[in-house]
Amino acid sequence: MDLELTPNKIAVIADQNVLQLFPYYIDSLGFDAPVFVFSVLPGEQNKSIEEAVYLWQNLLENHFDKQSLVINFGGGMVSDLGGFVASTYQRGIPFINIPTTLLGMIDAAVGGKNVINLNGVKNMVGTINLPEKVIIDTLFLKTLSPLQILDGFGEMIKYALIGNENLWHEINNLENIKNQDIKKEWIDWCVSFKEKIVQEDLYDQGLRHILNFGHTIGHALEAYFMQKDRDEKKSFPTVSHGHAVALGMVIESYLSYRNGLLSQSAFEEIRAVILRFYKNLIKDFSASQIKTIVDLCVLDKKNCNGRINITMLESIGHATPNHFVSEEECAEAIMQMNA
Ligand SMILES: NC(=O)c1ccc[n+]([C@@H]2O[C@H](COP(=O)([O-])OP(=O)(O)OC[C@H]3O[C@@H](n4cnc5c(N)ncnc54)[C@H](O)[C@@H]3O)[C@@H](O)[C@H]2O)c1
Repeated sequence: MDLELTPNKIAVIADQNVLQLFPYYIDSLGFDAPVFVFSVLPGEQNKSIEEAVYLWQNLLENHFDKQSLVINFGGGMVSDLGGFVASTYQRGIPFINIPTTLLGMIDAAVGGKNVINLNGVKNMVGTINLPEKVIIDTLFLKTLSPLQILDGFGEMIKYALIGNENLWHEINNLENIKNQDIKKEWIDWCVSFKEKIVQEDLYDQGLRHILNFGHTIGHALEAYFMQKDRDEKKSFPTVSHGHAVALGMVIESYLSYRNGLLSQSAFEEIRAVILRFYKNLIKDFSASQIKTIVDLCVLDKKNCNGRINITMLESIGHATPNHFVSEEECAEAIMQMNA
């Protein structure tokens, strides 16, 4: 593979599981420079300042400089952490991402958002800095579990709904989703769509909010269930990221319909397709749960004067960002899931 890069040395920041599954992958890229491998334990809790300090120290001790290269080898957790480390070390050294999850390939590794969590709060400290390159290799899809596939597939559904009606129809033809169903051309389209938007609005001032479809409510649901799981000392999440976004997309499609933008039939089609792929979506919310989830929506960074910022669909394949809804509208949209 010709990467057009001639670094003096390479730091591979790698997810430990990925290293075990693909121990020779980096060697196969044929770099002509010394390679140092720093393995990171998987898990969101390791997207932390402690891990960043450990990696910065290793770069320093091994005399990495601006002529060196960092390769982030893993899912979104590693590209967020490694991108953050590379873009802050010596005020920024070059890095490339080799995403190994579907979510990483079509979302996390693309677009230059590099970030760590702080005191358990997600994505609090970070940079916006683009990787030199993102290498997409569908080989990595083979070892993903059904849940990992569904986590990334939620984002693929999102891209179809906001920008590609044909992709939506192709997805719609599937009864369920398996690793081998994911086509490289779908991934390539999602990546180029995101790259185009990022090129126009790298710093997330307006247009980029379109990528947030399903995420205002989705993030609030994810935060709500994460807290609930912590309180109940559950070791496995009740609602994964992909499931939260899937639910968020149904609820935000409903808001698009109620605001007169999306037809009722399109909303019902979206709801039916998403419920078919995500069979165990939680659909019964109590009044107090809805209140807590709406309160979490209000905290979203993109809000303005207490109104909740939602990307809305005008039709399948066409979305517009920055619509504002009230807390009451949001509560009603979550409530309709109970029907
Ligand atoms: N920066 C962005 O724009 C952006 C966008 C979306 C999500 N994210 C972030 O991405 C992270 C989630 O990423 P993720 O879903 O890729 O999860 P992840 O990176 O946490 O990985 C999930 C699990 O998959 C394993 N894994 C990775 N590749 C594998 C493979 N090929 N085969 C088998 N197992 C494999 C990992 O070891 C881990 O156990 C979150 O931290 C989220 O905040 C960032």
